[in-house]
Amino acid sequence: MEVIIQPTREAAALLTAKVIADEVRKNPSAVLGLATGATVEPVYANLIEMHHKEGLDFSLCKSFNLDEYVGLSGDHPGSYRYFMNSHLFDHINIDKRNTRVPNGMASDLAAECLTYEEAIWHAGGIDLQLVGIGMDGHIGFNEPMSSLQSRTRVKQLNPVTIRQNAGYFGGADKMPRRAITMGVGTILDSQRCVLLATGSAKAEILAEAIEGPFCARVTASALQWHRRAVVIVDEACAANLKNREYYDWSFAHEPEWAPFRG
Ligand code: PGA
Repeated sequence: MEVIIQPTREAAALLTAKVIADEVRKNPSAVLGLATGATVEPVYANLIEMHHKEGLDFSLCKSFNLDEYVGLSGDHPGSYRYFMNSHLFDHINIDKRNTRVPNGMASDLAAECLTYEEAIWHAGGIDLQLVGIGMDGHIGFNEPMSSLQSRTRVKQLNPVTIRQNAGYFGGADKMPRRAITMGVGTILDSQRCVLLATGSAKAEILAEAIEGPFCARVTASALQWHRRAVVIVDEACAANLKNREYYDWSFAHEPEWAPFRG
């Protein structure tokens, strides 16, 4: 795992977008694993700008989103399909037929989860997976105590998560209670994983996840097991990290990061 600390939220989001853009340029038919939430909104804004100004081409890309609420259709403004269309897909040249978000309206949710896993497999697996971290340490909607081997399935949302996301629904009472989510095992199968976390509210849980023990209570800690994970944070979110001298040294000297440094 590599940890990169950027001075601001904007710089962290821009670097994340550059990592995704670099993947798409090197591998035009990349399979992208995508995330939703306030943290990644500026990443998508940067990718849209790169598409318009630099001709970043998504026409051959495929995408799979981490999760979707059970019971919401894609035209519900709180759904993650709606989020992805409005924050990214409607503004770039990806073929929408190649974008997958779990179907929260499926009559057979277990079958939908299995089909989703199969679709990822048929696409050749995820080349680059973007994730955020929840206030409870989740990745996707893998709430505390999720199996670290889990695959796509339905999860009961944590009250912590319901409070975190209630604003999108005009109150916790209007929030769905369950979601389909890729499992921790699904995320660990990706070739590369980028975790973006910003803001002081996530500083404590982020430090637990990346410097604390590998444990199901904080499912983001599973990224310590990932073959190629990079964690990108802003200063505010890095506040509780203990090994930052090494993180900064490594980012400053690692040849792979040379094109991405200031
Ligand atoms: P946020 O969500 O970016 O809206 O904070 C991240 C997450 O819960 O994974």
